[in-house]
Order: sequence, then structure tokens, then C-alpha cells
Amino acid sequence: MKSLKVGVIGVGGIAQVAHIPNYQKIEGVEVIALSDVNEIKLKEVAKKFSISKTFTDYKELLKLKEIEAVSICTPNFLHKEQAVASFKAGKHLLCEKPLALNATEVEEILREAKKSKKKLMVAFCHRFDATSKILRRFIDRQELGEIYYVKASYLRRRGIPGLGGWFTTKKYAGGGPLIDVGVHILDLTLWLMGSPKPALALGSTYNKFKDQATDGGWPPLFTRTADKFTGTFDVEDLATAMVKFENDSTLFLEASWAGNSETGTSISLFGTKGGAYLNLPGGGGEELSVKFIIYKEVGGDLIDIYPQIPSQDSYYDEISHFIECIREDKEPLTKPEEMLNVVKIIEAIYRSAEKGEAVEIR
Ligand SMILES: NC(=O)c1ccc[n+]([C@@H]2O[C@H](COP(=O)([O-])OP(=O)(O)OC[C@H]3O[C@@H](n4cnc5c(N)ncnc54)[C@H](O)[C@@H]3O)[C@@H](O)[C@H]2O)c1
Repeated sequence: MKSLKVGVIGVGGIAQVAHIPNYQKIEGVEVIALSDVNEIKLKEVAKKFSISKTFTDYKELLKLKEIEAVSICTPNFLHKEQAVASFKAGKHLLCEKPLALNATEVEEILREAKKSKKKLMVAFCHRFDATSKILRRFIDRQELGEIYYVKASYLRRRGIPGLGGWFTTKKYAGGGPLIDVGVHILDLTLWLMGSPKPALALGSTYNKFKDQATDGGWPPLFTRTADKFTGTFDVEDLATAMVKFENDSTLFLEASWAGNSETGTSISLFGTKGGAYLNLPGGGGEELSVKFIIYKEVGGDLIDIYPQIPSQDSYYDEISHFIECIREDKEPLTKPEEMLNVVKIIEAIYRSAEKGEAVEIR
């Protein structure tokens, strides 16, 4: 098999934890170049993963003809510019979430992707969780019927990423937990709901931890070489929203980095023929085990199903899927229209929170 050569732009937390090591696990895939503006980190990561070509300017990396695909693992505000440049350079792209800061930027990326005829995938790793795949199979078999109400949350007790760095600075991140982790649960929920068209959002955001904020430990400390955390914290620490869809279904969404609350990634699906509850632990809280229940009624009896959850690695499955889509010319699981709707909803929630009223989503 011909080796498929990859470049990674941004070599911080997610590049070191998910992208580089998993590309390196796939037979016939080679990460041949890295780019980062932080030269000290760039050299350290190149040495750690035995990658010889390094560039402080990502445009130089994109000039390498032998590179077929790139991962963008940089702060959110850079995704649009780097994604557009990647497609113009004729590369397939796996872009970290969120794809961009707003719908206008996403639309530009989608136009370039279409023009280039290259693959675009967004790194929504939770779609590759074993629990998500099981849930999706129950839904595809019509076991839940019409899903008309969903509660989805991604809550942390004390989990502010990179306090004082780009994550907590609005102009670099675009927002706080809503665009950072809420985007994951929003994407997963929309996918499970069958991608209904959003119509209306009513959102609220809060920053109650400004004066008592502590760093939550992401990006992992070992990936923070020569990073600076001397900036601000001008984004929310909690966002909550109600979203109405054109098919009359409703989503109640919550995302926090800090709060005195339960924790974890939870989804509660209400369907006419069945329901489901899922809580994946995480976020420095007390929820230690996965809770996953499918609610059914069989012959008049109420039945709870506890699916067995096979162990797997969602990051590996995500990266493998991207490579498979390139090699077998398949459409990635994250569809363009879905990617646009995710960002439209996030934008609408922020707009609604700012205006203090419900806003339409067009
Ligand atoms: N899918 C997930 O589970 C997940 C988890 C964490 C982060 N993320 C996403 O991954 C992206 C990166 O997050 P992170 O946690 O790795 O952040 P990070 O701060 O650890 O890494 C970002 C890196 O980008 C580099 N960078 C900045 N400007 C650059 C430029 N112009 N060119 C090249 N490199 C540049 C920084 O120096 C840094 O090394 C974000 O979009 C974030 O939302 C996804």
C-alpha cells in the first residue's frame, strides 16, 4: 500500500494526545511534518515523535507536495484561515472542533472544501464513542420512534482549560465552555436526533468563577512547553440554552467549565417508542462510572436495557475513519450541513444571551 503522508498544524495538547500518536499507529500512514509558532515546543514534539520536518509558518508545511492530508490542531480563531489555505493547497483536512468561530467562516470553509474536492472532517471524537454508536444503532432501527425532546449537558465542577491562555480569551476561542465542550455534545445530540433544522434559540451565559477560577489541567501540563498564560478570562463559565427545531423537537443544552453541580457528559433522549439516558464520567467530578440505559415498553411492561459497552479508543477510531475516507473515497461521518448547523446554533445562543431574548436561526 502506498504510504499516506500527513502534516499536523499546531502541536499542543490535542495534537500530542490524539492526532500524532494515532496517525502513527495506522499502517501506511506517516506524519512527515509539523508546524507550530512555538519553536521550543515544536522541536520538542518533533523529537518525541521522531518527525524530521518542522515549520514555524504553517504555509511552508502546506507547500510540501507529498503531504496529502493535514490536521489542524490550533486555537479556534485560526481554523478558518488555515482550513481555507489547506484546501487551496489541495490537502484533505481533519480540523479540530469547532470548525470555525461563526457561520460565515464555516460557509467559506465549506465552499473551499467543495471546490478542492478534498475531504473535510471535523474532529468530533464523541461520535466514535462505543455508547454513541450503540445509541445510533437503536435509533436507526426505530427503537426509540420519534425523538421529540433531548436534554444534553457537558458539565465540569472545576475544569477551566488553560486559564489565562487562548481558551479563556474571547477573541481567540470565540467563547467559553459552549464553543469548547458544548460543541461536542451539541454535535452528538444533533446527529442522534437525525440532524433536524434549528429554528430558534434562547440562551443564557454566566461567569461566576472569574474571581475564584483555577486551571483545570487541560491542555495536559506535559504539552504546555513555553506556552504563556498571562492573559484574560473574558468568556462564560456556564452556558445554558433551549433550542427549538423546525420539526417541533426541543433540545435543552448546558455546558460548563466550573460550577457546583453534577458532572459528566449526559444525554437524555425522549422518543415515542423508547428513550435513553447516558452519562459518561469526566470533568473532575464524582460520577465515576458510565451510566447507559435504554428505556422501552414491551407488552405493556416498562423495561430498562443496560447495553454492554465494548472498550475502544474514540480518538483512534476518529483518525482511522478520516484515513479510511481518503483511501476509499468515502464521505466523512461529519457532513457539511451538520457542521454548519452546529456553529449556527452556538452563534445563536451567544446572540440570544447577549440580547436577553430568543433569536431565530436562519
Ligand atoms: N476533540 C477534542 O477532544 C479536543 C480536546 C481539546 C482541544 N480540542 C481542540 O483542539 C484545538 C487545539 O487545542 P489544544 O488543547 O491542543 O490547545 P493547545 O494550546 O495545547 O495547542 C495549540 C497549539 O497551536 C499552536 N499555534 C498557535 N498559533 C499557531 C499558528 N499560527 N500556527 C501553528 N501553530 C499555532 C500553539 O503554539 C499551541 O502549541 C482547539 O481547537 C480545541 O478546541 C479538541
